[in-house]
Amino acid sequence: MNHEIISLEEITQFHSPTEEFNPYEWYKHKLQHEPIVYNQATQTWNVFRYDDVKRVLKDHEYFSSVRTRTMISVGADNDEGQKMSKINLQSDPPEHQKSRALISAAFTPRSLKLWEPRIQEIADQLLQEMGDAHVIDIVQSYASALPTIVIADLLGVPSEDRLLFKEWVNHLFLPLPKNHSEDVQELKRQAAKEYYNYLYPHIVQKRANLADDIISDLIQAEVDGDRLSDDEIVRTTMFILGAGIETTTHLLANTFYSFLYDNNQIYGEIQANRELLPNAIEEMLRYRFNIAKMDRTVKQDNHILGVEMKQGDLVVAWMSAANMDEEVFEDPFTLNIHRANNKKHLTFGNGAHFCLGAPLARLEANIAISRFMDFFPRIEPVPEFKLEDNLSPSAAGQMLTQLPIRVHR
Ligand code: HEM
Repeated sequence: MNHEIISLEEITQFHSPTEEFNPYEWYKHKLQHEPIVYNQATQTWNVFRYDDVKRVLKDHEYFSSVRTRTMISVGADNDEGQKMSKINLQSDPPEHQKSRALISAAFTPRSLKLWEPRIQEIADQLLQEMGDAHVIDIVQSYASALPTIVIADLLGVPSEDRLLFKEWVNHLFLPLPKNHSEDVQELKRQAAKEYYNYLYPHIVQKRANLADDIISDLIQAEVDGDRLSDDEIVRTTMFILGAGIETTTHLLANTFYSFLYDNNQIYGEIQANRELLPNAIEEMLRYRFNIAKMDRTVKQDNHILGVEMKQGDLVVAWMSAANMDEEVFEDPFTLNIHRANNKKHLTFGNGAHFCLGAPLARLEANIAISRFMDFFPRIEPVPEFKLEDNLSPSAAGQMLTQLPIRVHR
């Protein structure tokens, strides 16, 4: 089914890409003056405060994950790009539980332990490929490359095919622009088709050669006597790519941006005391994941947030605004890597749909930053860099396209 995509710009009306990248004034205003507001242009309710956002995400009796309209445009609209029947995460409990259990097979703590050295190896390889360069583009050479290669590796894709894989992923998750959307749709369809045709035989072959990878885990997953077919596994992996790559790239790229421009003392501080790193990453998820939001559909008329919501209304829960709610986070608009409660951020969602890949994303970020620090004790911004020229719309909202960094070995 094709969902109607809601335009983010019509809600936010930011004046420039830079303002969208630093939406703090907008959030401040919304939290104080319009914590729940109906946007006529998109016909959506928009919810900003922490407790309300949490409720919308979690309370599936009133707010459903079954959608006909949405904010997220990922995947393609041809047969290969469509969702699977047995696994449907855009559903509510109890139906959702079975889908989630099937996918969870690939995200156990045991898998995570096995993946750690592999992620480390991939990070090291990328860092070595930077050679003797004094200035590197962290987005292309690391933040975007690492999560794609990690997922390709975890799926069990042979390393010689990773470039192909990266190209399909880049195309599959292109945002749909308002004007030439048919060209982009065509690119997405082509990528979905090529990806499908590539992975399907790979899965058939894998059934006879199970290994430690996501595809093997999905082959073996069984819930209530149900197992996934080859076709369903291809589609499931496509969903995992959509959920896991751009998000992690965004986290890595924005963390480096923060090191350079939000507070240039942090890099040295963590360098001197690596134990600070996990909490610093939580703070980046809270503070620099600027446009995290999720939508839900009102399941039954209600007044639980103090306004009349009608069955079928679409509600946008702004997690990134909730992360700035002073009722929960002291001095919320300051980036503070020592913040004790920053794990309460809602960037990974809340409730039954809480991000299944959160441990993996955290692990990737910790390894990526830590290995980078081993290679480069000191970093500096490049004076010619202009933020405004290096931002582009993305499936998740907005993305840094380049971020040059001067590195010192
Ligand atoms: C910084 C990185 C990431 C962020 C911010 C993020 C964010 C989220 C959020 C907010 C949700 C909840 C959706 C909802 O409530 O409807 C979610 C769900 C999900 N995420 Fe992530 N994610 C990240 C990384 C990953 C990774 C690396 C993977 C896997 C490789 C992944 C797989 C999933 C899956 C499978 C779901 C669906 C869970 C369900 O509906 O039950 N995510 N993610």
